[in-house]
Amino acid sequence: MNFLNSTGGLIYHIRAKRYTSLWSAHRSAVQSFLENWLIDSDEILLIGPSGGYSLPLSWLRSFKRIIAIEPDPLARMIFQSRTGLRPEYLKLKLDLENPDPVIQSFDRAVPILFCNILGQLPVKNEYLAIKNLNTLLEGRSYASYHDVLSGKGIQVRVPTQSNSKKKSVNELRAWIKPEDSLVTREKIELNQHQAYDWFQQAVTNTFEQKFTYWEWAITPSQTQLIEGVSYLQEGIKK
Ligand SMILES: C[S@@+](CC[C@H](N)C(=O)[O-])C[C@H]1O[C@@H](n2cnc3c(N)ncnc32)[C@H](O)[C@@H]1O
Repeated sequence: MNFLNSTGGLIYHIRAKRYTSLWSAHRSAVQSFLENWLIDSDEILLIGPSGGYSLPLSWLRSFKRIIAIEPDPLARMIFQSRTGLRPEYLKLKLDLENPDPVIQSFDRAVPILFCNILGQLPVKNEYLAIKNLNTLLEGRSYASYHDVLSGKGIQVRVPTQSNSKKKSVNELRAWIKPEDSLVTREKIELNQHQAYDWFQQAVTNTFEQKFTYWEWAITPSQTQLIEGVSYLQEGIKK
């Protein structure tokens, strides 16, 4: 990820500062997503938390030990100054095609949260990336929030009564409306993001992944439809 990339680096920090109030609905959605995850752990591994802009302070404070993977030094400084917390940063990067053995064998009792990082890093061999991701997730609690659809001049209207099942792309598209009433739905150009395909409705042992969706107006003109997926590995406590 490059220094001036809008998904990380300096531009991301400038956006986060500029659009603090625009992002408040997204922050509340992340908070309820994380509170519904119900993990019972004193430790957490955060991947790509940036300056912690989306993460609720009360939730972060519930851990005795925060471990993180975040290669951007400015993000690490901002995280500490915003939250007053000092994660233990691992000196490695997430690379799903060529994973570091430290992360692949990371203590299974520590839940992992992917902080809008999956799908942001370019992946050439998607088959290999998914295989390594599944190895990393096996036998542990995990959660990820990531972009699934995005576009300009759109609004996402997520139904209030939505169950926790994975939604099809067509169901998600039906929630998207043009902001301008003169624009027809067919004229909307949407980007579909890679991480959507990486989590399917799956039952592992007797427990299911839970899915939830929300809108993130990342700038006044650019909107993301976020998928949150969480899995609780019962019987593991840290
Ligand atoms: C889109 S930003 C995260 C947004 C932030 N978590 C939030 O929700 O506000 C992606 C973050 O991932 C970090 N990152 C980039 N490459 C990474 C890698 N290979 N492994 C882990 N983190 C990475 C970036 O520095 C950036 O902070």
